[in-house]
Amino acid sequence: MTADAATGTRPRRIVLVLPTETYRAADFIAAAAEVGVEVVVATEHRPPLATEMESRLVVVDLDRPEEAAARIAAMGDRAPIDAVVGVDDQGVLTAAHAGEILGLAHNPPDAVAATRDKAQMRGVLASWGVRQPDFRVLVPGADVAEAAAAVSCPCVLKPLSLSASTGVIRADTPADAVVVAERIRRILADHGRSPDEALLIERFVPGAEVSLEALLHDGDLQVLALFDKPDPLDGPYFEETIYVTPSRLGGPEQTAVLAAAAEACRALGLRDGPVHAELRVGPGADGEVAAWVLEVAARSIGGLCSRVLRFGTGISLEQLIVEHAVGRDVADSVRTDGAAGVMMLPIPRSGVLTGVDGLDAARGVAGVTGVEITATIGRRIDALPDGGRYLGFVFARGDTPDSVESALRRAHSELTVAIVDEPRSVDGRTPA
Ligand SMILES: Nc1ncnc2c1ncn2[C@@H]1O[C@H](COP(=O)(O)OP(=O)(O)O)[C@@H](O)[C@H]1O
Ligand SMILES: [Mg+2]
Repeated sequence: MTADAATGTRPRRIVLVLPTETYRAADFIAAAAEVGVEVVVATEHRPPLATEMESRLVVVDLDRPEEAAARIAAMGDRAPIDAVVGVDDQGVLTAAHAGEILGLAHNPPDAVAATRDKAQMRGVLASWGVRQPDFRVLVPGADVAEAAAAVSCPCVLKPLSLSASTGVIRADTPADAVVVAERIRRILADHGRSPDEALLIERFVPGAEVSLEALLHDGDLQVLALFDKPDPLDGPYFEETIYVTPSRLGGPEQTAVLAAAAEACRALGLRDGPVHAELRVGPGADGEVAAWVLEVAARSIGGLCSRVLRFGTGISLEQLIVEHAVGRDVADSVRTDGAAGVMMLPIPRSGVLTGVDGLDAARGVAGVTGVEITATIGRRIDALPDGGRYLGFVFARGDTPDSVESALRRAHSELTVAIVDEPRSVDGRTPA
């Protein structure tokens, strides 16, 4: 029986779990409208003037996913809910719990919880023998230098629960690792988290890094896009910049990546909906091509990056996710439009953003389809490893991945970003 038959003529109704910080609310809401489903928004704060949409809004605390899920499920008593779609890292666990309560297709909450905690994820992948960096969990008081020596240097230290490379730092020696661990603890405190949280320390995996967008159908992985990350990601900080698809990796490398990602999803127990995985690929110990799983998330790509992807007759990634969530068959959807890429604009240093020049010139670069500055002029922005937000995004399309990459680089070179130190002077003047 099709979803249409199952639901009769009643319009399908989905809940979008939208964290306050998400970049993606507008794209998901537009996608739902495009697909023709009714939307209920579950979010952390009541927007001003929200009264007229009271029945379409539920305020939830995404730091308490089970409680949030119960509130969402309770809305289903009033009018049926056909799907719950979690957006971004902060939304996925609530969506999984709500899907479970409502008896909808969903990822097991335990599986999603494991993806939200880097130590848990490593533990699960290790127990299934999935290839990943050697790692140790650093509980408070652990001997960091000893752990660094155990995984071998260079190594990477990271918090368990932040994202967008916030607090992810390479260390080249055990002594260096001790200093880095202290620095990450300060970054955790700045992000309102306990500086005594455990950290992860891993062997640094050299090699090309890729990012995979996929959709799980009852455990089967449908590849939507494989992105190369052509900028070297050697540290000490790991700034996300250029993503280009299709990948220019060779066949064996791509096969290794897809196999490792599918294995990781199986190990974690993810079954349904979008997956975003990051892997490195290169020669393994035996000289054969091997892929190492850095991370798997039960969501689609973050920021505004998905805007470069179009499927089938021109539908967006968000539409595909919503269609899948309400039970429509999207298994044959493939990416169209040749090569595509996005550059997450790096924040060159921390301070107050006072302006971005050269936008018209950047938009005029052949192949560039859009430039969006998402940081707010006049507000403080933090460079890595302290901050995890983006200055903005450049989008490009072209015949080949090479032409897309060079369009992104040319557009970036047209931009001048003005950042000043935070005003401290007593006379109120902003230092230049
Ligand atoms: N073990 C590792 N070896 C090499 N690079 C790594 C390793 N761990 C993380 N990185 C780099 O840091 C980036 C961010 O790390 P990740 O674990 O994905 O955390 P986040 O949740 O912040 O994205 C990765 O995309 C990769 O470039
Ligand atoms: Mg990552």
